Amino acid sequence: MKVLVIGGGGREHAIVWKLAQSRHIDKIYCSPGNAGISEIAECIDVGTNDFGALIDFVKYEWVDLTIVGPEEPLSRGIVDAFEKEGRRVLGPTRKAAQLESSKVFAKDFMRRYGIPTAGYSVFSSSVHAEDHVRMKGTPIVIKADGLAAGKGVFVAGTMDEAIAALKLIMKEKAFGSAGDRVVVEECLEGEEASFMAFCDGKTVKPMASSQDHKRIFDGDKGPNTGGMGAYSPAPVVTEKLEAEIMEKVMWPVMRGLKAEGIQYKGILYAGLMIRDGSPSVLEFNCRLGDPETQPVLSRLDTDLVDIAFAMLDGKLSELDIRWKQKSSVCVVLASKGYPGKYDKGKVISGLDGFRDEPDVAVFHAGTAFDDGNIVTAGGRVLGVTALGSDIGSAKEKAYRAVGKIHFEGMHYRTDIADRALRRP
Ligand code: AMP
Ligand code: GLY
Repeated sequence: MKVLVIGGGGREHAIVWKLAQSRHIDKIYCSPGNAGISEIAECIDVGTNDFGALIDFVKYEWVDLTIVGPEEPLSRGIVDAFEKEGRRVLGPTRKAAQLESSKVFAKDFMRRYGIPTAGYSVFSSSVHAEDHVRMKGTPIVIKADGLAAGKGVFVAGTMDEAIAALKLIMKEKAFGSAGDRVVVEECLEGEEASFMAFCDGKTVKPMASSQDHKRIFDGDKGPNTGGMGAYSPAPVVTEKLEAEIMEKVMWPVMRGLKAEGIQYKGILYAGLMIRDGSPSVLEFNCRLGDPETQPVLSRLDTDLVDIAFAMLDGKLSELDIRWKQKSSVCVVLASKGYPGKYDKGKVISGLDGFRDEPDVAVFHAGTAFDDGNIVTAGGRVLGVTALGSDIGSAKEKAYRAVGKIHFEGMHYRTDIADRALRRP
């Protein structure tokens, strides 16, 4: 079987790596891929959003299945375009992907179906938004409605920060039309967790739980990033809480979508705030999380191709999905300056030292080849991921591996997974 993976980050490297272990696979293509992915897949130079060219490619190469990694092609309707041409593709349609591509859609949807989330108001006028924020006071959360690469959310501790966020989104249009509307939201407290599930339109099956680290610096300081590290499982998600998340969030989403004529096939990701053992939804994503996928897929024991076809064929209920009874930790190595401006083209050394370490996988995110070297080509460069018998040993192995890798300006957090270790 031939599979095409769309995307070129750490998440896609983990997907390709897991697919490469499948008994069904003859060939994997990845568009655009990266230096690490090119070791196990053929990277093709077709634009991620050029659906016509991608469809031509899967027709010409007899590709059996396409798996979409990132949100942008999903929100632009890649699944609709492939399905129209009778091509098998895994991911939600454009309409369903609005759960991620429009925060207003997601909040209104949650309100309609009684899914727990922070109280909110929506504004398309900056004057009214500002009046509302002054009336509510701080802390308060301001969100651009549309996709903003994880940068459109501002948790404002002071009124100045809140007003500055509104100005940036609505007046300066820092995120373009994604900022035509804002959601102003009550600020929730608690512990965050990422909860991802496989969906086939009828059944939802949870993945192993995980936790991201969104801020750039240790101790959750500094600006939000795409994610600086993750671990799985997240001890905050107990068995009881998992059942509650399924009952109060995941199933109601599936039922709500169905009631609106949407059959959701693919991954549903709920970003949650957990307080006093109860979940509240911060956001939905219509895809696997990055970097959560790296530790979560490291623990997956079931063939990913079997899961993909069970989702497409509506047969998830017949499949037993198994996870390794181990823990996994992923530490992201980023370029100096990320999530702001950063340089590219720094030579990466030390990548070859892990061939004899089956518990360590170095997933590439922003990397490329240059003159025979592997060089940095993005903000998040690598996701060093290790399995261990518990979070402590996985963390130790991951950081030991990090110590062998180097590039100029390499930045990483030194406290990934400490939250899990601090728990009683
Ligand atoms: P989102 O993209 O909506 O998940 O927001 C990004 C990050 O902002 C989340 O991971 C939280 O850390 C924070 N955040 C979002 N919404 C809220 C909220 N209502 N209360 C507190 N923090 C929030
Ligand atoms: N790590 C958060 C996300 O993928 O959106």
